[in-house]
Amino acid sequence: MESNYKRTLVTTALPYANGPVHIGHLAGVYVPADIYARYLRLQGRDVTLVGGSDEHGVPITIKARAEGVTPQDIVDRYHKIIKDSFEELGISFDVYSRTSSDIHRATASEFFSRLHQKGEFIEKTSMQLYDEKANQFLADRYVTGECPHCHNPRAYGDQCEACGTSLNATDLINPKSAITGETPVMKETHHWFLPLDKWESKLRQWILEGHTEWKTNVYGQCKSWLDLGLQPRAVTRDLDWGVPVPLAEAAGKVLYVWFDAPIGYISNTKELYPDTWEKWWKDPETRIINFIGKDNIVFHCIVFPAMLMAYGDNYQLPDNVPANEFLNLEGDKISTSRNWAVWLHEYLRDFPGKQDVLRYVLTANAPETKDNDFTWRDFQTRNNSELVAILGNFVNRVFVLTHKYFEGVVPQAAAFDEIDNRLFDDISGIKESLTANIENFHFREALKDAMNIARAGNKYLQETEPWKVAKTDMERVATILNTSLQVCADIAIAFEPFMPFMSTRLADALHMGKLSWSALGGRELIAAGEKIEVPELLFEKIDDAAIDVQIDRLARIKKENELKNFKPEPIQQPTDFDTFSKIDIRIGTVLQCEKVKKSKKLLRFTIDDGLSKRTILSGIAEHYQPEELIGRQVCFVANFPPRQMMGIESEGMILSALNADGSLSVIAPSTPVVNGAQVK
Ligand code: MF3
Ligand code: ZN
Repeated sequence: MESNYKRTLVTTALPYANGPVHIGHLAGVYVPADIYARYLRLQGRDVTLVGGSDEHGVPITIKARAEGVTPQDIVDRYHKIIKDSFEELGISFDVYSRTSSDIHRATASEFFSRLHQKGEFIEKTSMQLYDEKANQFLADRYVTGECPHCHNPRAYGDQCEACGTSLNATDLINPKSAITGETPVMKETHHWFLPLDKWESKLRQWILEGHTEWKTNVYGQCKSWLDLGLQPRAVTRDLDWGVPVPLAEAAGKVLYVWFDAPIGYISNTKELYPDTWEKWWKDPETRIINFIGKDNIVFHCIVFPAMLMAYGDNYQLPDNVPANEFLNLEGDKISTSRNWAVWLHEYLRDFPGKQDVLRYVLTANAPETKDNDFTWRDFQTRNNSELVAILGNFVNRVFVLTHKYFEGVVPQAAAFDEIDNRLFDDISGIKESLTANIENFHFREALKDAMNIARAGNKYLQETEPWKVAKTDMERVATILNTSLQVCADIAIAFEPFMPFMSTRLADALHMGKLSWSALGGRELIAAGEKIEVPELLFEKIDDAAIDVQIDRLARIKKENELKNFKPEPIQQPTDFDTFSKIDIRIGTVLQCEKVKKSKKLLRFTIDDGLSKRTILSGIAEHYQPEELIGRQVCFVANFPPRQMMGIESEGMILSALNADGSLSVIAPSTPVVNGAQVK
């Protein structure tokens, strides 16, 4: 199918430069796109991988406002972090640029002008939300309120994240300004709209008839949008950060971020190929593939294609948009604002040299057909029992044996046995499946195929037992190790798209030169007589301590979030002073404190209440070590009737505050007082 194309342009959603990238971005977009681009390069195909930062939009201006810096400061900071961390992870962009570049501003501006000149916009004056205190119109994320569909109280002016519906700010129930918290008023403003309805039938035909092969999640989302009927969409905003609308009458207005960002794919291609960029966009023999997350589907399958059709000039529509679902972290939705994420730049700092491990685990758990979960335990297990125990182990054994029996020189194979031929056949079969899976964007399955090469290699060593044969038949050992070394070379090729760092080390150790997909499965990938390097472990075990650090970090963040989001119980019904004064609350000093046997929760206190000693049981054993309370003053109810618990009589109740995370904190006087003092 793909041989009809001369070249492939692979694009990756431009991440917002309002924060670093996390594992959800990687698993959904960047790792799969990189696998695909690397694979095409190994196939010798003409491919360009385009990326860049999305530097406009309201989230960036909100962040700048919160920090008291300019939006440019924010995007400069995150663009650098994002770009550097992608590079370190081996995402092989041919260009990674940014939408605040001059070339992008010019390109986006020209795009708008042409559509305007062609009469492709409609202009409308309408009422929009306006914050009178901030003197600003409130578009998109500048407003929050109740979702009219699912009644989530924290929906944004462009989208409800709870039900996924895309919204207009004016749809929100009880809207509030994100800048001042004020209730906005309605004010008249003028905007330019792209009439998507005009393109509806073309889009229907192109997607619903022409691209039935698209992933079901993508096709299904497009179908439901199209079936609902398309409406004109505003492509301008009343904001001061973005690409200025290139019209004299539009002072103070900028292009909507979702209008300019996808044009970034074009500007970045222009930046890379100033002279030849057009063939990557306008030649029907170019195939365009957009890697995105599921929240971007409508923009890539409906809005941007409508823009390209409106522009004309032979711009090509994407051939496929293999959007992924979302990756969760330890069972919870990844969230930048709640800091619930594994950030790429932090991973690279905490696990230096382990880029491939992350790439492997994210591909093995890629959310290709449904949302999926990343857990640190799974990360550790996949490293230790797959990369170390299967892949690393096979390669290491072959290298060690070659050094032991042949001084590290690839031995000449004599006659191939049935078992050798079977191995080569297995690998041919795996190659077929692996190739088909990558071409169809089934990268998880493809990775399993690649892993099956190492599994086949291990099985082969198990069956042929060269270490035993060495006692009697060195010629046979030569054939076995020659064959095994070919399998190591296969591993270097098959894993290159997935784990390029490992692949390079292995290929270098085997002196393989430039890798190519067509060589995969061959019998003479490495020639006899070639000296190979001394064994070096490809992967090492990750111990519990390294994982515990990460798990503890997440536990700490979860706790912080619980505290931040704590909503106190409503205040109880009114009571009177009389009722209160009947309860005799006193201060006493803890003389003894110990765990109650067979109880998880109870501590037994002996308290000096100023008159005598009394025993009180309190359910705080999960929150305190008994020793730390001895000698401290506590607050207790002194006039409850005694009560039996676990066979012990408790004479009162120690008062504690209930924290947001369920923990209890004992109440004490702020300065020492006499035992028996009353709490008034
Ligand atoms: N910044 C957007 C997001 O993270 C993606 C933009 S993709 C592009 O959701 F096509 F607009 F560039
Ligand atoms: Zn909703």
